[in-house]
Amino acid sequence: MGEQSSVDAPKQADGQGGGLQEAGPAHAGVLAAIHAAAFPPPEAWSETVLAGLLAQPGCFGLLHPAGGMVLARTAGDEAEILTLAVAPTARRRGIGAALLGATRDRAAARGATALFLEVAADNAPARALYASAGFVPVGKRAGYYADGGDAIVLRADLSRPGAAAGG
Ligand SMILES: CC(C)(COP(=O)(O)OP(=O)(O)OC[C@H]1O[C@@H](n2cnc3c(N)ncnc32)[C@H](O)[C@@H]1OP(=O)(O)O)[C@@H](O)C(=O)NCCC(=O)NCCS
Repeated sequence: MGEQSSVDAPKQADGQGGGLQEAGPAHAGVLAAIHAAAFPPPEAWSETVLAGLLAQPGCFGLLHPAGGMVLARTAGDEAEILTLAVAPTARRRGIGAALLGATRDRAAARGATALFLEVAADNAPARALYASAGFVPVGKRAGYYADGGDAIVLRADLSRPGAAAGG
């Protein structure tokens, strides 16, 4: 991710996941590059979109310099993962799990007691990751995605320390 050298040095994120850094709007270019590597072109989020999201109240981002990123936001006592991506060359090294764990920590620190996300029903790697982190299905959105695919709504309990793996 060579673009990273052209942006402000991110702060080191504390908590789980060594190497994770907090990402703000200034890092949107790096985040977009990771997103484009991880998703097919129609699903990749642009630098502009990512910068706009990161500027919103309650929204936060985390970056792993090896090629991982997550965006989430909190509202009241609920939090939501907007997107999570690990570049293909960086997968199966625990980066997705580390991003997820750090997101849980941040959401809980901001007062959230539950963390939600939508995942494509046929996205086996992501569903395996979320299941291993303690997320459970709480709903289904038929035809949620542009290709007509269904989304599964997942929830993780943040109200009890250690309620799910990775917490
Ligand atoms: C889903 C994704 C974020 C996983 O990132 P990752 O860094 O490879 O995940 P991790 O290495 O932390 O994996 C943690 C656990 O998740 C599960 N997992 C992850 N990828 C898996 C795969 N391809 N097949 C089966 N299980 C998988 C495993 O249980 C894994 O533990 P293990 O490696 O000890 O077996 C990554 O594949 C990705 O970016 N995919 C494309 C974008 C996407 O689908 N994002 C989520 C949208 S909701």
